[in-house]
Amino acid sequence: MTPVLRNLEMTLLGLGFLGLAWGKSKLHGYTTPNRVAAADLEGKVAYLLDIFASLRRFMPPGFDLRGRDVLELSPGSSRGIGMLFLALGARSYHAIDMFDLAGSEDPAFYDKLLDRFPEGRKADRERARTLVHTADKREFGYAVGRDFDIPRLAGQRSFDLIISCAAFEHYDDPAQAIAGLTRVARPGCQSIHIIDLQTHSRWIRERDPNNIYRYPEPLYRFFRFPGQPNRHRPDDYVRSFAAEGWSDARFMPSRTIDPCLHEASLRGLARPFAGKNGMSILDGALTGRYPGPGGDWGMAS
Ligand SMILES: C[S@@+](CC[C@H](N)C(=O)[O-])C[C@H]1O[C@@H](n2cnc3c(N)ncnc32)[C@H](O)[C@@H]1O
Repeated sequence: MTPVLRNLEMTLLGLGFLGLAWGKSKLHGYTTPNRVAAADLEGKVAYLLDIFASLRRFMPPGFDLRGRDVLELSPGSSRGIGMLFLALGARSYHAIDMFDLAGSEDPAFYDKLLDRFPEGRKADRERARTLVHTADKREFGYAVGRDFDIPRLAGQRSFDLIISCAAFEHYDDPAQAIAGLTRVARPGCQSIHIIDLQTHSRWIRERDPNNIYRYPEPLYRFFRFPGQPNRHRPDDYVRSFAAEGWSDARFMPSRTIDPCLHEASLRGLARPFAGKNGMSILDGALTGRYPGPGGDWGMAS
């Protein structure tokens, strides 16, 4: 197939997927935060352990979570990550979301998750088990609001570590979210956000990972629905963090487009993505540190 024909084929197929995603959202609302089926508990454990390992890879060397207050943005269907932070000695974990996907999670799942995570001191693990089974505990909090007003949902608290996974790419206004999280960041706070930049619809994602970038903004936004990927790129996020005063804001790519799809994936993109640097990055982590005297990760109180 010639490159022109392939572009045309992928553009038309991608339009179909944009329409499908829009239709699914209209029919069912925001229901499936990740690819793991709700009933697949083993899959859910594996997914959370994998995310937790990724987040830890991006933490400062020698970090110590003991005594730290952790905020997770948009945990989706599980607060299991919070259980793992508490098991490693974090003082508290609070999660906030726009959709209530984790509110009815069975706390027995947290025990199952901890059984598969052999780390942490005995006393911290026992404290974690107690906290996640106690309703309305400030140390294991959860707040939901359709306005996604981060300071309000954080309830006057501030944090030493702010994390998210597969969330930022869904925010309607990432700069506003970054301004909001900055207001609840303590001096020395560390931010780690795993961001998936590629097309989300399954079939086409494997064949044309940059498909969402093929459409001019008005056409893409014609299919707008809550949670539609916002098409921000790493430099957009880094700029917004830097503008809010975060130091060392950087995006570390984890995966890039497979060499056999590389050329075809960068061809036929719409402005402003055509010819833009870094368009072969599929996902990665955005990290930054809020300036100030805190954040001495090796010496938590
Ligand atoms: C793909 S899920 C990821 C959930 C979880 N972190 C995970 O890895 O499974 C995206 C998350 O972003 C939230 N979200 C979707 N659209 C949003 C929006 N426009 N503003 C704020 N949060 C949104 C969802 O409620 C969900 O928690």
